[in-house]
Amino acid sequence: MIHNETMKSILSRRSYKIFDGLPIGDEELETILTAGLYAPTGMNGQPWHFTVVRSREMLNRIGEVFKVMPKPTPPPGINLPPGPIETMRNAPVMIIVSGRESHPTNFQDCCLAMENMFIAAASLGIASGWSHAMVKDFFNCPEGLALKPKLVPEGYVVRAAAFFGYPGPEVKDRGPRKGTISYV
Ligand SMILES: Cc1cc2nc3c(=O)[nH]c(=O)nc-3n(C[C@H](O)[C@H](O)[C@H](O)COP(=O)(O)O)c2cc1C
Repeated sequence: MIHNETMKSILSRRSYKIFDGLPIGDEELETILTAGLYAPTGMNGQPWHFTVVRSREMLNRIGEVFKVMPKPTPPPGINLPPGPIETMRNAPVMIIVSGRESHPTNFQDCCLAMENMFIAAASLGIASGWSHAMVKDFFNCPEGLALKPKLVPEGYVVRAAAFFGYPGPEVKDRGPRKGTISYV
């Protein structure tokens, strides 16, 4: 395999659960967002909106919703830990990617944008971590719904959301990737 700078960033990216709280600089943030904007999109529709949450007040308000939002029903065999399902994880930034519902490929486009941002962040030594709670259940409670006008434009639906920041404690080694490739 060829090890170039891009591969180094891809291989070094990990999903962080905890960040160290230090802010991300404007230039770093701009670089991450630009990487997202250059993801491919169906029919070049660019059917997305990126909401960058970095005001301490809004991060705290989102954190309060995480504390009160109901827990989802876990799939069989999965035990959810006690306590809130999501916390702010001490992250200085959350990026929410919403897709224009009317665009047929908005789901895929938004996820590709987020992955580009993850890799760009990794290349800068910035950690990231997906927030399933924000994508799935955040707006299913009145406290979350009250924040929706500030976080998601009309006609858009949240497709991806993640924390970004400088890494906290090392993430556990997730082992080698499983071989699920076939050649035909
Ligand atoms: C759709 C999706 C949802 C995820 N949801 C969460 C989440 O809610 N909380 C979390 O800590 N990690 C979440 N992750 C991160 C995964 O746990 C992580 O990608 C996986 O364990 C592999 O580890 P790595 O990203 O460090 O390679 C999610 C990842 C994806 C793609």
